[in-house]
Amino acid sequence: MNTVYEKLMRCYKSVQEKIHFRPGVALVLGSGLGDYADGIQVQEVLDYSHIEGFPVSTVPGHKGRFVFGYVRDVPVVIMQGRVHYYEGYDISDVVLPIRLMKLMGAQKLFLTNAAGGIGDGFQAGDFMLITGQIANFVPSPLIGPNMDELGVRFPDMSEIYDKDLQKVILGAAKDLEIPMQQGIYIQLTGPNYESPQEVQMCKTLGADAVGMSTACEAVAANHMGMQICGISCISNLACGITDHPLTHKEVQDTADRVAPLFKQLITESIVRIGKLK
Ligand code: HPA
Repeated sequence: MNTVYEKLMRCYKSVQEKIHFRPGVALVLGSGLGDYADGIQVQEVLDYSHIEGFPVSTVPGHKGRFVFGYVRDVPVVIMQGRVHYYEGYDISDVVLPIRLMKLMGAQKLFLTNAAGGIGDGFQAGDFMLITGQIANFVPSPLIGPNMDELGVRFPDMSEIYDKDLQKVILGAAKDLEIPMQQGIYIQLTGPNYESPQEVQMCKTLGADAVGMSTACEAVAANHMGMQICGISCISNLACGITDHPLTHKEVQDTADRVAPLFKQLITESIVRIGKLK
């Protein structure tokens, strides 16, 4: 049997033994949003370390657990802490939690991250609705024997980010009077930030924001037929666009500063997504 599928099934069985909650929406929390899950009506919590075979993050300060509960009346599963490719995991491990949340019942996926701004007019602290992505700088999580149980061998990627969900988020942002940028997210491996030349390359390729997560998760989720949406917090202007050296502290400080607004936007968006068919 396929070892990636076997591992996923082992994790799924482990979750099923412990959790009896069926989420509709899966939410992945990026930098600055770690405590969003503490503000919802929590029903159940499952530490990643209690799931047999589950990849556990090595980044200090990253909590690692699934939180199950309600955003108003919408049943959600929240990933508090994700694993990154730069930590040294196989890409199939990086997307395992996404696949698991789909198996738990979540049909919709809400991805968030912190990213470097490339797009014209972008400022640190902006939010960007992700309308498309470039994932080719990390391996596809679909490499290897296809898991026919999850999806087809050659999945279409023409609309990874669901148009209806995009409209919902823009509507929520408008009503909350939160300005939104829109654009293309590009994932590089990290963990180093980009050189100015690499940022220029990303811009030439059409990217508006650069980060180290998300796109591979969206590929795996799209393979499984999930409806996907995503928002980047532009935590800094990318290297060479800003004139000062980048630090993780700057990324965290900006993400923390705009987190209250980001949380409002997520809550309002999820409530509206819950009302969709
Ligand atoms: N580059 C890559 N990843 C990031 C950045 C960046 O500038 N900011 C936050 N995550």
